Amino acid sequence: MLVNRPRRLRANEQIRSLVRETQLSVNDLIYPIFLVEGTNIKEEIPTLPNNYHFSVDMLREEIEELIELGIKSVILFGVPNKKDEFGSEAYNENGIVQRGIKEIKKISKEILVVTDVCMCQYTDHGHCGIIEEGMVDNDSTLEYLAKIALSHAKVGADVIAPSDMMDGRVAAIRNILDKNRYHNIPIMSYSAKYASAFYGPFRAAAHSAPQFGDRKTYQMDPCNSDEAIREVELDIMEGADIVIIKPALSYMDIIRRIKDNFNVPIAAYNVSGEYAMIKAAAKAGLVDEKIIVKEMLTSIKRAGADIIITYFAKDLARWILEE
Ligand code: PBG
Repeated sequence: MLVNRPRRLRANEQIRSLVRETQLSVNDLIYPIFLVEGTNIKEEIPTLPNNYHFSVDMLREEIEELIELGIKSVILFGVPNKKDEFGSEAYNENGIVQRGIKEIKKISKEILVVTDVCMCQYTDHGHCGIIEEGMVDNDSTLEYLAKIALSHAKVGADVIAPSDMMDGRVAAIRNILDKNRYHNIPIMSYSAKYASAFYGPFRAAAHSAPQFGDRKTYQMDPCNSDEAIREVELDIMEGADIVIIKPALSYMDIIRRIKDNFNVPIAAYNVSGEYAMIKAAAKAGLVDEKIIVKEMLTSIKRAGADIIITYFAKDLARWILEE
């Protein structure tokens, strides 16, 4: 006689939803926004279909749409016109991200503004730090990252998200924020950020590909897992409030290990290449986009992510509202 019949709990939608462990919620989503110089610009990003480059004056409609969909958080990326050796536009108090933060705060107080703190979009060589003797120099880069973070805090950023992978940057940023009385601004650190080919569509969108070499001297080796534990441990010791694992899909094991070993909120970055692959497959009629996106995002959460940064945020919010 067959006593155990797991199918009993799958017999209909009522019982399936009763025993369902993981639920997607719009509360967990962060939507990326790309800001460009100029005015009157809302242009679709060729490598990220249905995502746009916005000039700061064109943000209102987008922010209002997010609020209507129930999305409460955005992460800002700047795509400046002017690049130089030191990425000086990144800490310009009138730079695009700084103006973008002020504009969003003017439009609504309901949106949590996270800012990506990095230099690769701002340096003419496309690396995430200051170059000395042909290498990204760790300690001189820290001063710049701290300056960038402070410039974001000064105009109203709610959360600072350093994505450069320099050693000691969380401490450097925590220190400058605290000295300037921004001790209540959380740091969401890209703690385990891998040197990944899944960033291709983002780099095309942000004009941030390195002009020589690659990012392997600072981003992590995809072969490593213990190293992610060490990176997260160090970032928490330095004051990180939330840790990011990036990319998400090929790194579900890392998400789970971090979840089992630490007790800080985990954000998974469902990166540009993961987005673009699904978009391309859906366009070719190979997969059902809605079902596959929900499956992917649910799986990321089931792996242990509390927060998901995703280009699919608006689509998912719409699908949740429809249900
Ligand atoms: C900046 C940064 C990158 C991404 C987020 N912040 C690119 C990179 O490290 O080369 C990638 C995001 C994505 O692919 O969606 N350092």
